[in-house]
Amino acid sequence: MEIFHHISSVRKTLGEARMAGKTVGFVPTMGNLHEAHLALVKQAQGMCDLVVVSIFVNRLQFGLNEDWDKYPRTLEADSQKLREMGCNYLFCPEEGEVYPNGMDEQTRVIVPSMANVLCGASRPGHFEGVTTVVTKLFNIVQPDIAVFGVKDYQQLAIIRRMVEDLCIPVNVVAGDIVREPDGLAMSSRNGFITPQERPRANQLNQSLCWVKQQVLSGERDFLKLEAAAKTQIIQAGFKPDYLIVCNSRTLESAASDDCEITVLGAMYTQGARLIDNVSLKLGSAQE
Ligand code: PAJ
Repeated sequence: MEIFHHISSVRKTLGEARMAGKTVGFVPTMGNLHEAHLALVKQAQGMCDLVVVSIFVNRLQFGLNEDWDKYPRTLEADSQKLREMGCNYLFCPEEGEVYPNGMDEQTRVIVPSMANVLCGASRPGHFEGVTTVVTKLFNIVQPDIAVFGVKDYQQLAIIRRMVEDLCIPVNVVAGDIVREPDGLAMSSRNGFITPQERPRANQLNQSLCWVKQQVLSGERDFLKLEAAAKTQIIQAGFKPDYLIVCNSRTLESAASDDCEITVLGAMYTQGARLIDNVSLKLGSAQE
């Protein structure tokens, strides 16, 4: 596996590969790679000749009081995992390479729809940071496809919208949520869950699944379900951020006659903010 720190060198190598007719798959990450990241890499490998993974802990998408400084950085172990699975290229730039003019003056990409609700409401500016860095990474790598996990459902929806609105020639592919045996969605932030909390940390997933079952059983009072699910989370000892039954496409609160529904939630443990979601289809074959 070749490792690049500079835009010019990754561009040169990938330019030559493209000239030779190779297709390029891309998996952007912030590192501390776990099974779910590796599943996205595998998915990209199944679709393209060459796969590029990026590792960059993008300060632009973190709020001032968030965990940018303590975000786990494990580049050695990450590159070993990627090498073992036959990943072709790793791009891990320094901040000055990505933001040579600093972050304050950086040109931004803003997706007005969907960016200020759910996670965007609790993390102002977060999605602007994501869409800005992903646009830059797309321009650097120029992949044929890019794989993003459904775990970050809102991020995936926003990136799809950005690609459509800006006519970016990248095929955005969704990767299924990878979970621990007890249902907890894998995340680099799971390392911040204390051992005491860990046995209960799947509560978010349990509550989302409970709401899904209630909706499938015919319950349409979504506000009542949301309140009950948040109470479950509080009773398990956590602080809910949001838990909302949404229209899967628009991420607006679901209407009672919506057929494609996604229940999204976020909750705080002592040391981490965890997110998860489950989707369901009504009126046709269920998920
Ligand atoms: P990061 O949190 O490292 O996630 C990288 C990719 O892995 C994202 O597409 C995310 O959705 C996916 N992922 C993480 N946990 C997953 C799980 N349990 N199941 C399925 N997919 C999972 O998301 C980011 O980084 C950043 O915002 C980034 C897009 C790289 C921009 O900085």
